[in-house]
Amino acid sequence: MITLGSPSLTAHKAPLLALALGDTTELTAEARELDAALGGAIARASSSRDFRGARDETLLLSGGASGPRMVLLVGMGAVSDRPGALRRAAAIAARQANKLGAAELTWYGGELNEREVEAVALGLSAGAWDYTETKTLPPENERRAQLASATIAVADSPPLQRGLANGLALAEGHSLARRLAMMPGNLCTPEYLAGTAGDIAARHGLEVTVWGRTEMQEEGMGSFLAVAQGTPQDPKLIVLKYNGAKNGSAPIALIGKGLCFDSGGISIKPPQNMELMKFDMCGAAGVLGAIETIARMKLEVNVIGIIGATTNMPSGTAFKPGDVVRSHLGKYIEVVNTDAEGRMVLADLLSYVQRFKPAVTIDAATLTGAVVIALGHIATGVFSSDDALVTEVIDAGKRAGEPGWPLPLWDEYKELIKSDVADMKNAGGRAAGSTSAAMFLKEFTEGMPWIHLDIAGTAYSETDLVALPKGPTGVPVGTFVEFVRGRAS
Ligand code: BES
Ligand code: MN
Ligand code: ZN
Repeated sequence: MITLGSPSLTAHKAPLLALALGDTTELTAEARELDAALGGAIARASSSRDFRGARDETLLLSGGASGPRMVLLVGMGAVSDRPGALRRAAAIAARQANKLGAAELTWYGGELNEREVEAVALGLSAGAWDYTETKTLPPENERRAQLASATIAVADSPPLQRGLANGLALAEGHSLARRLAMMPGNLCTPEYLAGTAGDIAARHGLEVTVWGRTEMQEEGMGSFLAVAQGTPQDPKLIVLKYNGAKNGSAPIALIGKGLCFDSGGISIKPPQNMELMKFDMCGAAGVLGAIETIARMKLEVNVIGIIGATTNMPSGTAFKPGDVVRSHLGKYIEVVNTDAEGRMVLADLLSYVQRFKPAVTIDAATLTGAVVIALGHIATGVFSSDDALVTEVIDAGKRAGEPGWPLPLWDEYKELIKSDVADMKNAGGRAAGSTSAAMFLKEFTEGMPWIHLDIAGTAYSETDLVALPKGPTGVPVGTFVEFVRGRAS
């Protein structure tokens, strides 16, 4: 629970008060009042350079005779993107609250505008987030309280309440996406994703359709079904419709790769780190999270979410290298590597989405290891033939704190996926691996505005990120939501 409360800091009863400071460590009147109650401890920490306000720097002070028992200083460094810096500082404070066993937190970062309150609310929630469903709790006497309620110390006003509500809407979408991503593959199955889409639909009165193997066979989705051929689990094509526009305007289509586990299939992956391939459904989780947020924000826009969910498994019935399959669009695909399965699922979703005549289609997929080589874990790879759309999506990502970077999608690269026996092959080798994957997708998007996000490096982290623990980051929820917000009237 997050609320807005008095900016008068000494009035707060929470055991922990977090104070976000830039590298000038300058104190506002409210912070000076708190400092006085602490006997000048904050000013001393700053003048002694024990605390310099550097980005991510923290210093824990003990409280005075009354008021908060603990005061946590959180540095933001030289701030250029204020919402981004506040969000990060809020996440660090909330993580620290969990570690300290503080069930309540007061958060202060000076005066805030609507967008900044939104950022702080999201940061607090993201920092407190944890996945505990499959862990046994420690015995009662060893248990630390977890952050349950936070107050943002800022003068209340209608715009700031709106910022709070939007921040909480984003937080719900982020938490949902991160939870789904963190869930192991035996629990987060295609059926589970379909059930989650159903829950979202029921919560917000949306339309949802779920197809299984039979319906996909009737539709001729030979590319998606080839991937699903090796698993006994029923693959799911999930369509979720949010109709927020007052008129019947063309929807924005969000498409997500939902590989609940990717073993590589017959072209099996090496065992080292294979468990991370439970994260191969982060695109799908992003779609579900974004729609949860968009519905909560009641954005005046039509959005259609489409997810292709299955697992990629080796078995006697699995598809195999050399197979040629007919896609939903009618183009033939030669399978040269069964580990290049995501693009085969997306291919059929991209041609299927055309029937909804979307204004624009964005897909997000943990598609290639090559994008991690190119951009690391910092930026999402962005691919489109439409430069204006690239700018629009990268700007949306910036606002969301999810950086993206353009990579080429030029016809010169089509050569990489030329096949001797079919219209294309599903993998193009090591050179330009992310572009050849995107070029494959492009074959199924003729005549429609489309952009592809390769989130293999950004959707989850194998290391602790200071503001977030290792695991799912929430990407691409923010980019999706900001893009849709940018287009909402
Ligand atoms: N899901 C993987 C991509 C991936 C790799 C995501 C590492 C996150 C971390 C995808 O299905 C895959 O296996 N891609 C192959 C393509 C290759 C066979 C052409 C890859 O990147 O190695
Ligand atoms: Mn794969
Ligand atoms: Zn995959």
